[in-house]
Amino acid sequence: MKPGYKAIYQQYRQSIVSGLLKPGDKVPSVRVLASELGVARKTVETAWAILVGEGYLVSQGARGTRVNPDLQLNAAPTLDCSPAPVDELSPLAEVMRNQSGLLHPGIPALDAFPYKKWLLLGGKAVRSMSAGEMINPPLLGYTPLREAIAHYLNISRGLSCTAEQIFITSGYSFNLRLILNALTTANDKVLFEDPGYFFGAQALKRAANNLHFVPVDEHGLNVDYLQQYHSDARLLFVTPSHHSPLAVTLSLPRKHQLLAWAAQNNSWIVEDDYDGEFHYTRKVLPALKSLDSDDRVIYMGTFSKTVMPALRLSYIVMPRATLAAFRETAHISESGQPVLTQKIVAAFLSEGHFYKHLKKMRPLYSQRRHYVLRALEQVYPGIFSVEVSDGGMHIVAFLHTSTQDVAIAMIWQQHQLEVSPLSRWYNSTHKRYGLVIGYTNVRTQEEALSLLARPARETRALLKQQSEFTAGY
Ligand SMILES: Cc1ncc(COP(=O)(O)O)c(C=O)c1O
Repeated sequence: MKPGYKAIYQQYRQSIVSGLLKPGDKVPSVRVLASELGVARKTVETAWAILVGEGYLVSQGARGTRVNPDLQLNAAPTLDCSPAPVDELSPLAEVMRNQSGLLHPGIPALDAFPYKKWLLLGGKAVRSMSAGEMINPPLLGYTPLREAIAHYLNISRGLSCTAEQIFITSGYSFNLRLILNALTTANDKVLFEDPGYFFGAQALKRAANNLHFVPVDEHGLNVDYLQQYHSDARLLFVTPSHHSPLAVTLSLPRKHQLLAWAAQNNSWIVEDDYDGEFHYTRKVLPALKSLDSDDRVIYMGTFSKTVMPALRLSYIVMPRATLAAFRETAHISESGQPVLTQKIVAAFLSEGHFYKHLKKMRPLYSQRRHYVLRALEQVYPGIFSVEVSDGGMHIVAFLHTSTQDVAIAMIWQQHQLEVSPLSRWYNSTHKRYGLVIGYTNVRTQEEALSLLARPARETRALLKQQSEFTAGY
């Protein structure tokens, strides 16, 4: 008799658990195994999808499927998996980079961008390029843009900084490298949130030798844990306004506790305020940096969420005591950002279009989030739960009973819905499971319903299979 997916699943699971197949071992491709067993490819695919979802296998695209190299059978769960190993960047990372599909977290509403205004400002910026501006760009940024950003941060994010403290950069990975180069030495302890920004964790695993993770709960980063285990850290990366990905806000007492820790230990806090502009119920949520009386916070902002990711323009606010270190690093290893882009953005800010745009986007995003929340309830009743936060550009739909978020995300991705599985944002074994869903480009309620309905049948089938398995054990 031909084996069904259950038998294939059980046999491979048993081989892995018993050690017959070891972490990193390759398993046959779907095509090869299906032809060897004389079964349909779908049968093997289903068994593989479950094993991938449960973390026994990892799929590496063209390089095949392997037993998860990080698999630790019978290992006691631990919160602090440190120092962190360098993962191989999975094909999933590639999928998470693919921003062409819908529901991808963190892409601003492309249909609502003021293109006409942008075109006008672009033309003006090109025409006004002086000879001086055509030579090398200023290392720390185009002065009018640095001034406009300082002004914006002081008014809208509650900071108290000057243009001299603004360093114009080209995005997260640039910032990360710059900060590590300027402020740390090789073995300094660096901390990151768990769960935390997927690409941030991947980049730091490569760049920082002494990296550790601090858990996040419903009040944001667990500062007690940090103080208990890692009070000697030199640098901490944190997303206080709107945690990435859990969307919670760091509570005010914890903000004060964190700042006091940094001041006491001469540590640096990097505040990643990637989408702090988008709060829907409060008028403004002041940044952590606005409470930073000891000047221990390096503030990072980006135009990827407020204008467009392809701009590749971001900035950091350097504490005064670090100005010399950042300047020195910039002189050695940087060459500045394109002046033309900076001129356009400077005009966008100083002529008020940026503020107007943000003001329009807040109610729009709030409305679009509502569409997706309603559609989730209607299409997937009892499957997901969402803890709605005050703002941001994505929601986390937690799976009630399943741990199959990787397999479900893959199904959704096959329907061009670029959601991301929550468990992949964790470093420790204490994971929660769900989907990280961007809603900013969903234009109507009907659209939300029809998008979410695309993978509904397969999602339910997968969950049903899983509950049958669980019941069978
Ligand atoms: C948590 C977090 N920080 C920062 C960024 C901004 O990165 P960049 O400025 O490189 O676009 C993102 C973008 O997705 C993000 O999700």
